[in-house]
Amino acid sequence: MGKNTFYVTTPIYYVNDKPHIGHAYTTILADVLARFHRLLGEPTFFLTGTDEHGQKVQKAAAEKNMTPQQQCDDTVVRFQELWQRLGITNDKFIRTTQDFHKKVVQQVLQDLLERDLIYKADYTGWYCVPDERFYTEKDLVDGKCPECGREVTAIVESNYFFRMSRYQQWLIEYIETHPEFIQPAFRANETLGFLKRPLNDLCISRPKSRLNWGIELPFDTDYVCYVWFDALINYISGVGYLQDDAEFNKWWPASYHLIGKDILTTHTVYWPTMLKAMNVELPKTIFAHGWWLSGRDKMSKSLGNVVNPMDMIDRYGVDAFRYFLLSEMTMGNDASFTENAFVLRYNSDLANDLGNLLSRVLKMTMRANNGLVPPPGEFSVEENEVFAALQQAVCATSDSVKEMRLDIGIAAVLEAVRAGNRYLEKTAPWSLAKQGNVEKLNTVLYVSSELLRQVSVLLYPVMPEKMGELRDAIGLSRELDVNIRDLTCGGNVMTGKVMHEIEPLFMRIKIDDVVPATPVAKAEKPAKAGQNAKPAAVQEVELITIDQFFKTKLAAAKILEAVKVENSDKLIKMQIDLGTEKRQIVSGIAQYYTPEELVGKNIVVVANLVPAKIRGVESKGMLLAAKAGKNLRLVTVDGDIEPGANVG
Ligand code: MSP
Repeated sequence: MGKNTFYVTTPIYYVNDKPHIGHAYTTILADVLARFHRLLGEPTFFLTGTDEHGQKVQKAAAEKNMTPQQQCDDTVVRFQELWQRLGITNDKFIRTTQDFHKKVVQQVLQDLLERDLIYKADYTGWYCVPDERFYTEKDLVDGKCPECGREVTAIVESNYFFRMSRYQQWLIEYIETHPEFIQPAFRANETLGFLKRPLNDLCISRPKSRLNWGIELPFDTDYVCYVWFDALINYISGVGYLQDDAEFNKWWPASYHLIGKDILTTHTVYWPTMLKAMNVELPKTIFAHGWWLSGRDKMSKSLGNVVNPMDMIDRYGVDAFRYFLLSEMTMGNDASFTENAFVLRYNSDLANDLGNLLSRVLKMTMRANNGLVPPPGEFSVEENEVFAALQQAVCATSDSVKEMRLDIGIAAVLEAVRAGNRYLEKTAPWSLAKQGNVEKLNTVLYVSSELLRQVSVLLYPVMPEKMGELRDAIGLSRELDVNIRDLTCGGNVMTGKVMHEIEPLFMRIKIDDVVPATPVAKAEKPAKAGQNAKPAAVQEVELITIDQFFKTKLAAAKILEAVKVENSDKLIKMQIDLGTEKRQIVSGIAQYYTPEELVGKNIVVVANLVPAKIRGVESKGMLLAAKAGKNLRLVTVDGDIEPGANVG
C-alpha cells in the first residue's frame, strides 16, 4: 500500500518473574527505532505489553499462594516501572487479560471454527511445562524438550486444533519470495529448515482440568485457549483489529515485530499461518535478535548471573545503559554483557570522547566569547574534515536504521566526535586566542558547536535525556526541533546561540570501583625452564582481561567475491557474507593470494572496526592472518559454519 506509517512491537513479556536485561534490550531497541521514525516525521505506533495467561503464570502464582490475576497485577507494575525509568515511549501497553483483547481472541477462534479451520480430535503429545509447548514424539531430542532440553510429560487428551499444516507450502513460498519477511536472512533459513519436515496442525486448546488460566474457548467452556495463540493476537488486537477498522488499517501491517531468537518458530510459523487463515496481511518484517550472555555463559537464574536492569540504571544512569546495549550488540548476533565491558565503553565513548568534547567546547566558548557562538570565518581543510565526518555519521545513522544495524550508526557518530576532538587539538583555540587570530577562533567555536548540535540530534533517540542536557548547555531547546532528514551543515543555526557550563555530562567511572562480573585470570607463577615454558614473545605481551578481549568482535565470514584494487599490487577488495549482511573489506594480501584462491574461503574477521578508506576504497572490517617473515596465511574456520558465527 506504500504507507509511510511505522508500527513496531516487542514480544509481550511473561509476568511470571521480574524483567531482565533481555526484556530491556528489545524494548529499548523498539524505543530507539520508534524515536528515529518519529524524527523522520513518520506517524509511528509502538506497542509493548505483557503475556499474562498460561501455565508459567499460573505456576508462579500458585508458588506464592496468589491468584493468577494477583500475580499478573503485581508483576506488570515491575515492567511498567522499568519502562518508565528507561524512558520508553510506547504508545500503548497491552495486557492479555484485558477484556478487549480477550474478546478479539474469542472472535477469531469462533470465526476459524465456523470456517472449519479449527476442529476437535484426540491427541497424544509431549508437553514441556516451562516452555508451554507440545511436541510430537519425533520432535523430542533424546526424549527431552528440543528447545530447552528439560524433561517432558506425556499427555493424551481431546483438544482443538488449528489446521496449520494446510499452509505449509504457502508459507515456504512466501518466505522464499519475501526476503524482508524474516531477518537476519540466516534466521529465514532456520525457519525454512524447520519447514522441511511435515508441519503438524497446532493444538490451540488446554482442558480446564489441567490449566484454567487462559481465555475460555467461546464454543467449549471446558477449555481455555493455548497461551501462544492468545498472545500472538496482541499484535493486531492492540491496534484496533475487530474494534476500529480505521485505526487497524492505519497501522497494520506492522513494520517490525522485534523478537529474541528463541521465539522464532512461534512468530515465523504459527503467526503467519494464523494470519493467513484469518485473511489478514502479514507483518512486513520479523526481526530476531541474539541473546545477551553473561560473559560467555547463558544467563540463567540457576547460575545466578542474570543482569537486573534496575541495578545497572541505579549505578550508571539510564542513558548510559541504553547506549551500551545498543552499541555493544551486533544486531542479530549474541553479545556478551559484563560490568567491566560496560565501564570500559562508558569511559572511552561517553566520558572521554563525547563528555570531553562538550566540556572543552563549553569552556572555550565561555572564556573566549562569554558563551556566545560567533559567525564562522572561511572554512579550510580542517573544518571540511569535521564536516565530512559528520556527513558520514548522518548517512551511517540513517542507513543503520534501515538496515537494522544501529551499532554501526552509533560507531560512526562517535567517530565524528573523535574527529571533533582531533580538530580542537589541531587548531589549538587557546593559541589562536593568544595570537589574536579572531577569525579562525570564531570558526573553531562555530564548527565545534555545530558538530555538537548534529551529534545531539543523531544520538537523541539513543540517549534522549543526556542529549537534552547537552542541547540545553549549547543554547538549544532540550526537545528536538528538527527532522533528521534536514540535518545539514549549512544555515548557520548555531550562530548567536548562548552556551552555559554544566557539570560533566558523563562522570568518569573509576575502574577500581567495579567488581568484575567475570573473574580475571590470575597471573601464573613463571614456569621453570623446560616446564611448559612459553615462547618469549607470548610471555612479554601485555595481559588483557577477558572483557577487553570481548570488545573485539570476531566473526566467521565467507568470501563471495575478490578483485585486485586498481593501481595497487598489495590490496585486494573482497565482498564477504557476514550472515546478517554483506560487506566490503580491503586487505593487503595480494602478494600471498590470488583473488580466485580467496573466493569461497571461510575466514575470520574483526567485525566491529570503524569503517576506513584504504587507497580511497571503503573497508568495513579486517581479516585475520598469521604472518611470519615472508609467509602469510589466512586464519580460516575448520569446515562449514554459518557466516556471522561468533569466534571467540
Ligand atoms: N511471552 C512470550 C512472548 C510472546 S510474544 C507474542 C515470551 N516471553 S518472555 O518474557 O519469556 O521472553 C521475552 C523475550 O525476552 C524473548 O524475545 C526472548 O528472546 C527475550 N530474552 C530472554 N532472555 C534473553 C537474553 N538473555 N537476551 C536477549 N533476549 C532474551 O517469550
